Amino acid sequence: MNNNLPFFRYVGDVSKISHYIIKEFLYNKEIAIDATLGNGNDTDFLANNFKLVYAFEIQKCACDNYINNKKDNVNIINASHHLIKEYISEPVDCIMYNLGFLPGGNKSITTKNETSLKSIKDGLKILNKGGIMTICIYRGHDEGKIEESCIISYLESLPKNQYGVMLHSFLNRSVDAPLLVVVERK
Ligand SMILES: C[S@@+](CC[C@H](N)C(=O)[O-])C[C@H]1O[C@@H](n2cnc3c(N)ncnc32)[C@H](O)[C@@H]1O
Repeated sequence: MNNNLPFFRYVGDVSKISHYIIKEFLYNKEIAIDATLGNGNDTDFLANNFKLVYAFEIQKCACDNYINNKKDNVNIINASHHLIKEYISEPVDCIMYNLGFLPGGNKSITTKNETSLKSIKDGLKILNKGGIMTICIYRGHDEGKIEESCIISYLESLPKNQYGVMLHSFLNRSVDAPLLVVVERK
């Protein structure tokens, strides 16, 4: 046994858990959306696993930083994800949200509950049967706490015969530790 491993292998980074779930449990991997490009880690993951990826980001600097390293199957959309329906009309297999602000960037530019919720609602309308949506919610800042309550109360109301909704929450960490919500369309 290697006692020098610095991190937990599973109960750690919620983004990594979302990658694992998408990779293992999603059957069709044709089209995916990263609703929050940021530094591009999730987009890279999607680009390696899907035929076509759309990535939304409101900050032009983040789009510019990513564009030179992007794979050919990635389309960057420098717009807010609440406009998802205006940009994408085709059904998709996967939508990822990694909410909050850009790590290493301007912390005042963050996802907001109204636009996040509109995007999630419209995203579910284009999610294929069998598709998966993942939402990482960071509660360590004020907007994140508002997103947590709005998004979770909306997702709790989804009909259970159409959507499986599961919340992943740390039990022995700070009350502000991130959450991962997974929505699977039946
Ligand atoms: C936590 S970061 C995303 C991390 C990213 N997925 C990664 O792998 O590095 C959240 C990002 O969402 C962006 N953002 C904020 N509001 C947005 C919106 N309405 N539409 C799209 N992106 C938004 C922020 O600018 C920030 O870059």
